[in-house]
Amino acid sequence: MKIMICGKGGSGKSSLSVLMAKALSEKFKVYLIDSDESNTLLPDMLGVKPPKPIVEYLGGRREIFKKGEVNIVKALAKAGEGIALSELPEGYVSTSREGISLIIIGKVRNFGEGCACPLNFITRTLLKNLILSEDEVVLVDTDAGIEHVGRGVEQGSDAILAVVDPTAESLKLAKLLKEEFKPLNKKFWLVLNKATPNLVKRIEGKVRDLNLQIDGVIRFDESVFESCLEGKPLTAKEAFQDVKNLVKEIGILS
Ligand SMILES: Nc1ncnc2c1ncn2[C@@H]1O[C@H](COP(=O)(O)OP(=O)(O)OP(=O)(O)O)[C@@H](O)[C@H]1O
Ligand SMILES: [Mg+2]
Repeated sequence: MKIMICGKGGSGKSSLSVLMAKALSEKFKVYLIDSDESNTLLPDMLGVKPPKPIVEYLGGRREIFKKGEVNIVKALAKAGEGIALSELPEGYVSTSREGISLIIIGKVRNFGEGCACPLNFITRTLLKNLILSEDEVVLVDTDAGIEHVGRGVEQGSDAILAVVDPTAESLKLAKLLKEEFKPLNKKFWLVLNKATPNLVKRIEGKVRDLNLQIDGVIRFDESVFESCLEGKPLTAKEAFQDVKNLVKEIGILS
């Protein structure tokens, strides 16, 4: 299964990606794909060294559109037919002690180096051409907002998990995501993050007004906040418990 973790900036996409990866790693081989062209904390959150970015393997961002989908697949698919993440070359995957493999698409770092379009193109191509076995799950931690939707990155994914924090802006974006993906027949889950008991009731009303439905609630967790503040491997208490329940309730883990 290929799941995109989407949502407003700062809603908790990366934190939930890592916690979901940990929860799912008990049963699946989990690949975590970092498709955010800006933030760089995901390796620290997972407790691994950053792998080399895939864009480098493909010859750099200027080469991507020249290569096109066919040649990207050729370069990444060793066995021919489609791309198997287990076959990516050494150095381009970092694996955590839980067995979660992190893959980084690429980052924009320098003034005037150009937009993130080639990076989005790689993610889209990768997802579309991935061959997954039954025991493999791919989680994609996306960049904030909606750019990747405009670029069709989600095309090859099976499900969208929209993370909302307790803000009207976050809910508005989740509504937009749901509507955009409805015609594509993908699973759609809405998860409220950083929840405190008094906020849940207030948010529930707003969610109903928007004709949405909450599929999971993740509590505000001091440990998550603290690990991100220090840039250390993510530790979580209540939030991890909630994520474990979430993956069962939405049916990824039985
Ligand atoms: N359940 C939680 N409890 C407490 N703090 C949280 C929780 N989830 C996320 N946070 C905090 O919210 C901030 C943003 O989290 P995170 O980086 O995961 O969000 P993001 O959506 O990936 O952000 P970006 O859009 O910048 O990629 C961090 O300080 C993190 O510690
Ligand atoms: Mg993030």
